[in-house]
Amino acid sequence: MIQPVTSSAQPRFSPDRAIEIQALSHTYNRGRLEVLKEINLNFGTGFFGLLGANGAGKSTLMRILCTILKPTQGVVRVHGHDVTKEILQVRALLGYLPQTFGAWRLHRTEEVLDTLARLSGMRDRAHRKARVEEVLEMVGLSDVADRKVKKLSGGMVRRLGVAQALVHEPQVIIVDEPTVGLDPEERMRFRQLMTRLGTDRTILQSTHIVADLGGGCQEIAILDEGQVVFQDSPSALLSEAEGTVFTATVEHRGAPLIEAAFEIVSRIPRGSEMQIRFVSDGNQALPDGAEQVDKPSLEEAYLAFMLKRGRAEAARENQETNPPAEQPKAA
Ligand SMILES: Nc1ncnc2c1ncn2[C@@H]1O[C@H](COP(=O)(O)OP(=O)(O)OP(=O)(O)O)[C@@H](O)[C@H]1O
Ligand SMILES: [Mg+2]
Repeated sequence: MIQPVTSSAQPRFSPDRAIEIQALSHTYNRGRLEVLKEINLNFGTGFFGLLGANGAGKSTLMRILCTILKPTQGVVRVHGHDVTKEILQVRALLGYLPQTFGAWRLHRTEEVLDTLARLSGMRDRAHRKARVEEVLEMVGLSDVADRKVKKLSGGMVRRLGVAQALVHEPQVIIVDEPTVGLDPEERMRFRQLMTRLGTDRTILQSTHIVADLGGGCQEIAILDEGQVVFQDSPSALLSEAEGTVFTATVEHRGAPLIEAAFEIVSRIPRGSEMQIRFVSDGNQALPDGAEQVDKPSLEEAYLAFMLKRGRAEAARENQETNPPAEQPKAA
């Protein structure tokens, strides 16, 4: 009996390896600039964060995943398909929101999605129309389906970017720094959308802002100068920071001494005094009256982690300047 060929044509992959990266290195400028160094990473189903400072190599890694850039060395597979050898299969599985997404300004929102859906092979008009409506609903843009892209807010354009990455029902979505320029409310909506979408597919989002990932993110991979230095859950990053974050309330003139000795997270003026939150690497004596923070925020945990590596400056680049919410005092 003749066996069907379709099943044997599908490479096998395990669901916890929707994206598989093995010994990946990349150089630019004919080998003179090494930007990714022997990276090993796996991502399964869920919402994953790729965190790193400017120039860490995030966009390079994402462009390789999306088949736009051929890596210098290593193996990358998406659902078992090699990104350098099975480009069409990988592209069919993938949705990509590049770091700069702003074209189509004169088109209407639903028109953009309909055109992109048609280009990705969705020929049936009725099916396409239904899918475009569904995706607009998912990203909260149904009310502006008729509006031209140039009349959308920054947050709406980003959500349209996600919608275009989603329209052909990909199993893997790669979004590169999608929250740049968004206000805090739009950021929160975006984070919720990513968490929701991650329930039945793989979402990999890069950012240099820790707050973008939050608790809804399954795992965080930290990329520092082209190397993966951490991959675990947000709670594991938080546990690593326990005992390293403190608050002290001092008179204004006492603040510079603390600022010179520690990594400052926030300063909150309180009349003639200043409440300072800071991270300590344990090498200096704590200021008088300093109290340990029971539950550090994710931003503080990232700062503490990078401080241990002597890279605190890179971690604080472009972070949110809002002070973290006050922790309730233990009774
Ligand atoms: N096409 C290119 N040619 C040469 N160098 C490049 C190229 N693209 C990126 N680089 C360099 O590679 C390094 C990593 O860049 P990449 O864009 O991957 O970092 P990133 O983490 O995405 O940074 P950002 O947060 O600023 O977007 C940087 O030093 C960058 O200047
Ligand atoms: Mg980038």
